Amino acid sequence: MEYLTFCFVFSCWMKFASSVYSTDAPQAPAHIPKEKLLVLTVATEETDGFLRFMQSAKYFNYTVKVLGMGEGWKGGDVGRSIGGGQKIRLLKEAMEALADQEDLVVLSVDSYDLIFAGGPEEILRKFQQANHKVVFAAEGLVWPDKKLADQYPSVRSGKRYLNSGGIIGYAPYINSIVSQWNLHDNDDDQLFYTKIYLDPLQRQTLNMTLDHKCQIFQNLNGAVDEVLLKFGTDRVRVRNTMYDSLPAVVHGNGNTKMYLNYLANYVPNAWSYEHGCSHCDDDVLDLTQLKEYPDVMVGVFIEQPTPFLPEFFQRLLTLDYPKDKLRVFVHNNEVYHEKHIQNFWEENRNVFSSFKVVGPEENLSQGEARNMGMDLCRKDATCDYYFSIDSDVMLTNRQTLKLLIEQNRKIIGPLVTRHGKLWSNFWGALSLDGYYARSEDYVDIVQRKRVGVWNIPYMAHVYLVKGSALRNELKERNFFILEKLDPDMALCRNARELTSHREKDSPSPESFHMLKPPKGVFMYITNRHDFGRLISTANYNISHYNNDLWQIFENPVDWKEKYIHQNYTRIFTENYLEEPCPDVYWFPVFSEKACDELVEEMEHYGSWSGGKHEDKRIAGGYETVPTDDIHMKQIGFDKEWLHFIREFISPVTLKVFSGYYTKGYAIMNFVVKYTPDRQAYLRPHHDSSTFTINIALNNKDRDFQGGGCRFHRYNCSIESPRKGWSFMHPGRLTHLHEGLPTTNGTRYIAVSFIDP
Ligand SMILES: *[C@@H]1O[C@H](CO)[C@@H](O)[C@H](O)[C@H]1NC(C)=O
Ligand SMILES: *[C@@H]1O[C@H](CO)[C@@H](O)[C@H](O)[C@H]1NC(C)=O
Ligand SMILES: *[C@@H]1O[C@H](CO)[C@@H](O)[C@H](O)[C@H]1NC(C)=O
Ligand SMILES: *[C@@H]1O[C@H](CO)[C@@H](O)[C@H](O)[C@H]1NC(C)=O
Ligand SMILES: *[C@@H]1O[C@H](CO)[C@@H](O)[C@H](O)[C@H]1NC(C)=O
Ligand SMILES: *[C@@H]1O[C@H](CO)[C@@H](O)[C@H](O)[C@H]1NC(C)=O
Ligand SMILES: *[C@@H]1O[C@H](CO)[C@@H](O)[C@H](O)[C@H]1NC(C)=O
Repeated sequence: MEYLTFCFVFSCWMKFASSVYSTDAPQAPAHIPKEKLLVLTVATEETDGFLRFMQSAKYFNYTVKVLGMGEGWKGGDVGRSIGGGQKIRLLKEAMEALADQEDLVVLSVDSYDLIFAGGPEEILRKFQQANHKVVFAAEGLVWPDKKLADQYPSVRSGKRYLNSGGIIGYAPYINSIVSQWNLHDNDDDQLFYTKIYLDPLQRQTLNMTLDHKCQIFQNLNGAVDEVLLKFGTDRVRVRNTMYDSLPAVVHGNGNTKMYLNYLANYVPNAWSYEHGCSHCDDDVLDLTQLKEYPDVMVGVFIEQPTPFLPEFFQRLLTLDYPKDKLRVFVHNNEVYHEKHIQNFWEENRNVFSSFKVVGPEENLSQGEARNMGMDLCRKDATCDYYFSIDSDVMLTNRQTLKLLIEQNRKIIGPLVTRHGKLWSNFWGALSLDGYYARSEDYVDIVQRKRVGVWNIPYMAHVYLVKGSALRNELKERNFFILEKLDPDMALCRNARELTSHREKDSPSPESFHMLKPPKGVFMYITNRHDFGRLISTANYNISHYNNDLWQIFENPVDWKEKYIHQNYTRIFTENYLEEPCPDVYWFPVFSEKACDELVEEMEHYGSWSGGKHEDKRIAGGYETVPTDDIHMKQIGFDKEWLHFIREFISPVTLKVFSGYYTKGYAIMNFVVKYTPDRQAYLRPHHDSSTFTINIALNNKDRDFQGGGCRFHRYNCSIESPRKGWSFMHPGRLTHLHEGLPTTNGTRYIAVSFIDP
């Protein structure tokens, strides 16, 4: 009843509208009501591209009839240059029933690689403006028979050649065209239409033309440079800048699928500045509604020496996910990391449902290892997800795995970026040779100025793949090995260009034209949350004992997290520091790990000076107040140490000695060892510094007895140094001081004479 009412009102409005028009332009025909437009498309499978097409059709309320669903594809195969006849055969069958509907307008379009950017009213208006019974899409490249180029009517401006991915026309006329089909399913559809169009007699009697200026149809092949996104308030369109048109149908024909994917991240309403992402919450999975959490196979890949590996494993352990639902597969390619894995395994062997390591002795290539990990999930019907993560990914968001599962896509990765850099784990576009190209939106996505779930052509380092997809679309093994590509590039190309028979050689752009429609699986990256970062593995020198100490330049955030005291920042926010003696400031700076690793590093080096006056390491070769020490320079740590002073000590100096701007320069930087059998104390002295820092590297009472520092002028001693805390005091004139005797065990301190 309601529907009838609506129709009634609608047709009244139509009459009104057309009468207004007829006063303005007496000859203009009445508008065709949108109910008179029927979209026909051929799709044999519900690929990701097909679902996207349907989503855009639904948004505009198109009436769509899908032909051939479930029928096997017979319209030609990869490597062949022609095909698509099956599409005409199905269209021909469908048109037989519609042939006598004179006022029905049929829009026949592809669907795997096509979206709507405008609605039915608009298309019908433009169709009427074209003033022909049948309008074909046009493109600038002639296909499949170049020899036919000359037979095309010349055009002053616009695309000259026919493309069969989009046809609009009155039903009887479309029927007259497709009823001529008597070829095979794998014959070429575009050639068939082209021949009819090029026949001058048919062109006239069937009243056919091409959409030369992309009013209705935008074919992207050869035209990528002509189109831009045009952001409106509710809707995003594609604008053709060459003809200043807003095409209503956008077709990623040829090798422009990736570009279509980029456009479809916005068009027609997927993402806008006003509303953000509009489909991000579609079809999400609510984990709390499941009886049990899904089973996840976690593939960990350590393919090169990687800083902060123990921390990486700790983050895996602290992921918010039931550990008995996680099976872990580790591929470790580095002998260096065997000790880290061993340590982790010993402490956590019973935490996960299983924990399997393939070590360097297996000599697997990266591609083989990644195939192996993925296969473990593929082969096992109980494996719901495969979560692949490389050792250089620091997931700081404990919810990452849950969030990815909830997003419910076949392949999805969390955005991770190199701290402070534009480097990330995805590419927004590919260059012609398949490598990185920057998409217009790359920076905004990386910086989270545009937030959403993005269909992208390449991702690496960390991603989640559905087990069901691995057993269906992605059931072929050996995804990570393809030509000479990096394993992740191979994976992405395989996913993008998925067809039932993969070809070794990539087809030329032209031969893509009428291939079997690729069943490409869309790959998404989400930046809806902050997930974590990528660390740098470049310049990781593993010739030291505790190599992460040297990472202060390359991975400053991870360095700080590992080595700087948890309460350091409170110095500035809460004045968290003490003044135990006049102008002696005492504050937390090093973590336990920093202290332990620095001591280990020095003991590993082992050449303590012995506390002698003769000292070849210093200018002049004579030290008046010698300590038993090792200089930072001796272990190759002087640059890093000075950087530490500038980054973490200078701000404290500025706070406590306000108005003094330290250069953060120091020549004497060393670790001192006090022990009763060698050197137990240091007699009163001044330091050759403007100010000195003195960081306790171990614990009184646990590691040693005695120790501390005494400042004579103030008759003030500090006898309970705290591990990781530093003193800071003026070096000369006022602060004559001595090192109090260590009576048992070994005491270590790190000292710098700053601004000598
Ligand atoms: C599609 O139809 C629905 C329901 O009638 C309507 O709310 C919506 O605005 C229509 N969409 C467009 C793009 O016209
Ligand atoms: C095509 O049809 C339109 C009406 O739809 C008519 O005005 C026009 O003259 C026809 N063109 C040809 C070449 O017959
Ligand atoms: C490891 O594999 C590479 C290439 O597959 C081969 O060249 C090399 O000899 C192998 N090394 C060992 C120790 O087996
Ligand atoms: C690594 O560090 C060692 C010791 O400091 C040094 O001798 C070596 O040159 C460094 N290697 C690289 C590649 O920087
Ligand atoms: C930091 O301060 C808090 C509160 O005072 C304390 O509980 C915590 O142990 C401190 N952290 C470290 C590493 O000492
Ligand atoms: C120094 O302080 C101690 C107590 O802390 C006190 O016993 C001693 O007399 C003081 N010495 C001088 C010279 O003031
Ligand atoms: C010295 O330390 C050791 C352990 O570090 C302890 O066994 C011993 O009792 C200590 N000696 C004295 C005199 O405190």
